[in-house]
Amino acid sequence: MMEFLRNTWYVAMWSQDLKAGELVGRTYLNEPVVLFREPDGRVNAIEGICPHRLAPLAMGKLVADGKHIRCGYHGLEFNGAGQCVLNPHASGRIPKNSSVRAYPIVEKHSLVWIWMGDETPDASRIPDFSLLEGDLPVSKRDWLKMDANYQLVVDNLLDLSHTAFLHEGILGGEETIKADLKLEEIGDKIIVNRIMRNVPPPKFHDILFMRDGKNVDYWSNIHWSPPGCLINDTGITRPGASKEDGTGIFGTHFLTPETDTSTWYHFAGVRQNPIVWGEPIDSENMKQIADLRRYAFEVQDKGIIEGQQRMVNHRGSKAKFMPLETDLGTVRVWRIMEARIAAERTRAGQAAA
Ligand code: FES
Ligand SMILES: [Fe+2]
Repeated sequence: MMEFLRNTWYVAMWSQDLKAGELVGRTYLNEPVVLFREPDGRVNAIEGICPHRLAPLAMGKLVADGKHIRCGYHGLEFNGAGQCVLNPHASGRIPKNSSVRAYPIVEKHSLVWIWMGDETPDASRIPDFSLLEGDLPVSKRDWLKMDANYQLVVDNLLDLSHTAFLHEGILGGEETIKADLKLEEIGDKIIVNRIMRNVPPPKFHDILFMRDGKNVDYWSNIHWSPPGCLINDTGITRPGASKEDGTGIFGTHFLTPETDTSTWYHFAGVRQNPIVWGEPIDSENMKQIADLRRYAFEVQDKGIIEGQQRMVNHRGSKAKFMPLETDLGTVRVWRIMEARIAAERTRAGQAAA
């Protein structure tokens, strides 16, 4: 099994998708987890396997006013801290070691964040996604599943040179292959700035801007925070004009490993500099944008990334990538992740000794 960074915050789901009274079974980092929201709003996440006969706890139900999970097989009950609190059988004795693991949870920026590691969680290390709760209009908070390792999805976003080919006509084309690339490193954040000057406007952005098809400067600045949280600051402006005179989107992307070869992908777009240019944007334009975004991710990116995973599986231990110059951000991120996973392994070894 693949080694994931564990002592870090992962996005479990959008807050809106976890309603009180519902039991949600998910797998993160190869571990079955069950999540539920108590009537007072607090979110719990506990290991999703009943210690009695290993039934999935997600197949149970919420009881005790939505505060306990009752296993669907023989009725043991567990609270949000993972403690077995009721055995309905015989003497009612609760065996030792009957507790299941509870995972720390924080709700922030309209997301549920989960900590899968053994070290003490630090909520201040959740990356800043306050733009999801600010004054700018936010698209549908959406998600999809990809049958590919999460790093392949992160790599896809770190190297946006693929937009000229994979998303030809929507997010780029012949004229946007060549770009000025710059890598920045700020704290534990990596930023890959990509500028394409005096190029035809990609369809997606033209709808948000002038809708006149005239040449623009096109920027895509991708901000990565470990392990899989990204913002794509992307937009267009008139050639030579400032970003402030243009418009675009902050695309937020959250990649959480489900298994070695599958990923929870949560995403939403935040409208950037939503000045109304020319004809106002109507609901038809908004629908066009939403459809294009969904198509680009769900059909184009998902298709190629899942295809890549199949080829990686085919090569097995011999699988190896051949980075190009456009992979400068990708390679930097791989190195950071390797170093962090190695450091985590060392700390775990020291703690065990
Ligand atoms: S498997 Fe859960 S109570 Fe028996
Ligand atoms: Fe893409």
